[in-house]
Amino acid sequence: MRISIAIAALMLLGSVRMQAQTKTPVYLDETKPIRERVEDALSRMTTQEKIAMIHAQSKFSSAGVPRLGIPDIWMTDGPHGIRPDVLWDEWKQAGFTNDSCIAFPALTALAATWNKDLALLYGTSIGEEARYRNKTVLLGPGVNIYRTPLNGRNFEYMGEDPFLTSKMVVPYIKGVQSNGVATCVKHFALNNQETDRHKVNVNVDDRALYEIYLPAFKAAVQEGGTLAIMGSYNKYKGQHCCHNQYLLNDILRGEWGFEGVVVADWGGVHDTRQAITNGLDMEFGTWTDGLSWGTSNAYDNYYLARPYLDLINKGEAGTKELDEKVRRILRLSFLTNMNTKRPFGSFGTPEHALAGRRIAEEGIVLLQNNNNVLPIDLSKTKKIAVIGENAIKMMTVGGGSSSLKAKYEISPLEGLKKRIGTQAEIVYARGYVGDTSNNYNGVASGQDLSEKRSAEVLLAEALKVAKDADVVIFFGGLNKSDFQDSEGNDRKSLGLPYNQDKVVSELAKVNKKLVFVNISGNAVAMPWVKEVPSIVQGWFLGTEAGTALAEVLVGDVNPSGKLTFTFPVKLEDNGAHSTGEFPGNGEVTYKEGIFVGYRWAEKQKIKPLFSFGHGLSYTTFEYGAVTADKKTMSSSDKITFNVTIKNKGTRDGSETVQLYITDVKSSLPRPVKELKGFEKVFLKAGEQKTVSITVDKSALSFFDDKKHAWVAEPGDFEALIGASSSDIRSKVKFALAD
Ligand code: BGC
Repeated sequence: MRISIAIAALMLLGSVRMQAQTKTPVYLDETKPIRERVEDALSRMTTQEKIAMIHAQSKFSSAGVPRLGIPDIWMTDGPHGIRPDVLWDEWKQAGFTNDSCIAFPALTALAATWNKDLALLYGTSIGEEARYRNKTVLLGPGVNIYRTPLNGRNFEYMGEDPFLTSKMVVPYIKGVQSNGVATCVKHFALNNQETDRHKVNVNVDDRALYEIYLPAFKAAVQEGGTLAIMGSYNKYKGQHCCHNQYLLNDILRGEWGFEGVVVADWGGVHDTRQAITNGLDMEFGTWTDGLSWGTSNAYDNYYLARPYLDLINKGEAGTKELDEKVRRILRLSFLTNMNTKRPFGSFGTPEHALAGRRIAEEGIVLLQNNNNVLPIDLSKTKKIAVIGENAIKMMTVGGGSSSLKAKYEISPLEGLKKRIGTQAEIVYARGYVGDTSNNYNGVASGQDLSEKRSAEVLLAEALKVAKDADVVIFFGGLNKSDFQDSEGNDRKSLGLPYNQDKVVSELAKVNKKLVFVNISGNAVAMPWVKEVPSIVQGWFLGTEAGTALAEVLVGDVNPSGKLTFTFPVKLEDNGAHSTGEFPGNGEVTYKEGIFVGYRWAEKQKIKPLFSFGHGLSYTTFEYGAVTADKKTMSSSDKITFNVTIKNKGTRDGSETVQLYITDVKSSLPRPVKELKGFEKVFLKAGEQKTVSITVDKSALSFFDDKKHAWVAEPGDFEALIGASSSDIRSKVKFALAD
């Protein structure tokens, strides 16, 4: 009898359990609305579990809720490839053998394609790589505006123009997130220099903030739907940007309605109370226990860890903000690592390498091509002299957090050798010694760049090699070492480092067919510009760098990139430097206001070395006169501008048609003109097409700081169509009605 009661009880328990097992909890039920799932998960969590979720548990991960099957969140840099894994609590390499990625071109190169389809391809491809590596959040893209050519991190961003950056960032985000991987757009905001980056307080007027520095972030949120944003290191209005009332609560969440997660930059949190209330959700990278510097595994001592819990336990802080943070993180998880429908991704594939190569091909900018030295005519070329350290130096390693362990990287010299084969002899001389370091955080390029010969000997060798060559290609510029294009510090001058100016000038004396390829993410001074017939902006192009450069140099690919920032002749031609406001002394005031980049050059009537939007082709394009579909538009209307473009040459090619708007009369100062539309069009030799660009009143608006609103003032405007900001081909007047 007793035994049978026990058996019955067990059976009953079993069936209750089975019932419980078969009923999916609401938070795991993907047919239910996310909000409901979030509330359900939240209601099951303890305060400790919530606290665990809002700060790091290792260098790149934060805890999920193991009890509930909610996975950890894994982050990865970003933004040019999937960073190799490091140890749990150290920056040392984990030493995995399965984390060698495809290195995509730097974002400066992507932006220079002016091709939104390629931004989507980039995002989709890097998103697939992140997904395959089981990363939840990709720390990128970066959209800080290029304020000065000295900023060490410009190569990770998309140039000086808010409109172009906004248009390019949206497809990147959509591509990444289509893989069930979140983007974390960085660094919000005003992170325009590396010097004093943890403490500098940026003073900027509201017009510049809203018109120049914020639009790309706004587009990332409202058009791209980014699931995360990274706060920046610097301060704004005296508060660190990772817990900044004005930027995060008022603007990001208040004005833009951002529902995603705000992630602190690594080590960007400084205060528990502010971190609780001022818009931050997740703390990463804090390398201190609050008492001493450098404690290992200090995660429980993070500002948003035990100190927060203590405040709650003592009744000095409530849990409202904690719940809000956890809600946002849960939402992100449901849309990423808990989305059972997301694809599986792929990693290090030939398709991704090809995607990178296509982006590289279209991003390369032909800056100058006197006497048509380019493309190299192989039928008339017996000997090519390749000079310069950047012809051989691996550029995917270094530069800070964007450093990669690439599956492979084709250097410019290798790319040329592969392409040219036995068609011509290629001789190489280094010409100068730059930086021989070859290691970042334990990823070694494997190259031995040590060199004992003196500068004189290297120069003499280069001149000897160059003298009797049919063409000389110098690969120089910057690199990913400290004080070049690198995180953590800024460049010291606009000039080329390592004696390169001298080498270039001397080469120009011995051979008139000289090509200078600038490998950099920044503008450099070119005092020898008149002596060197051909100049190419070669960026940091990733895995297939050398292939793409060779294709452009020999003419397999007709260059079609356009500059995304102004090359000034000298530093003082740039607004930040002309006003003496760089890098500041703990405080930096953006005195140039909205006049950044070409806006400054045009206001001051300064002729740049190379203008924003500039880029040549091996063919020529003839522009017709621009027409407008109406003379007057109302503020609820749109207006379309049409222009015919004809490829006048014998080669197929692409041209980016740029639309700038001038406000003829306005109550507040405005730039001479501003980019408000662009379209890249491919034309076969001899082909003609009509390009149409439509805008609404947002293209006419400025931010009125008194009204704290965007305003389009009725009156006269001009639409300018150009091949660059300084090469306007035609214009048409139109008006905005009252
Ligand atoms: C950088 C971020 C990066 C993070 C994680 C920081 O130093 O500023 O851009 O994502 O480190 O590596």
